[in-house]
Amino acid sequence: MRQGLFISVEGPEGAGKSTIIKKMADELEGKGLSVVLTREPGGITIAEEIRRVILDPENTAMDERTEALLYAAARRQHLAEKVIPSLENGSIVLCDRFLDSSLAYQGHARGIGMEEVYSINKFAIGDTMPDITLYFDVEPQIGLERIEKNKGREVNRLDLEAIGFHERVREGYLMLLEKFPERIKKIDAGMTFDEVYEQALNVVELYISEHRPVK
Ligand code: TYD
Repeated sequence: MRQGLFISVEGPEGAGKSTIIKKMADELEGKGLSVVLTREPGGITIAEEIRRVILDPENTAMDERTEALLYAAARRQHLAEKVIPSLENGSIVLCDRFLDSSLAYQGHARGIGMEEVYSINKFAIGDTMPDITLYFDVEPQIGLERIEKNKGREVNRLDLEAIGFHERVREGYLMLLEKFPERIKKIDAGMTFDEVYEQALNVVELYISEHRPVK
């Protein structure tokens, strides 16, 4: 039986979500909670291998449906091997990206359609959905400028898309936010790191105080 909490974190490139959730994981662990910090695509060996194929800038020939299927395959393996066992054991799973990324990037921005992309993902995830999703909202131009400044970060195949693609990604996320207001909480990621962190931590702590995990 599922006893933990499943929190997914979403947003465009350069929203700062990865750094924020690393700090959040440390803080929650410091309070004695069991936290599993992980990411998509990846998080375990098989899914990291799929990630390498999807994000390789050399793979310019990749068909958009192949891309969507590979994300779903990586998602399935990561869920089965890591997320579901961690939830069953009462941990808080903090996952950098999940289903909404596929809906926003492949479904909306690539133009496959959110319903179509949802249907292959339903096969992959069954009934496992995040309890809560933090959506880090930032103007695509600002996000891309932040990546530009952060030279240490790997540049992947999707980062190389034109600005119009990233604008559609954001549009997709905003549609999801409207559709699932109970699950998806918007964080204004255009502010300073400390302000963004504060907003995100408040949302998570409130949720935990209302639905305290077992461990
Ligand atoms: P990553 O370097 O982890 O990006 P970020 O630091 O912005 O999270 O690379 C993941 C890339 O894969 C990112 O461009 C978003 C994209 N993506 C999808 O298009 N669909 C998906 O389902 C997932 C999980 C990620």
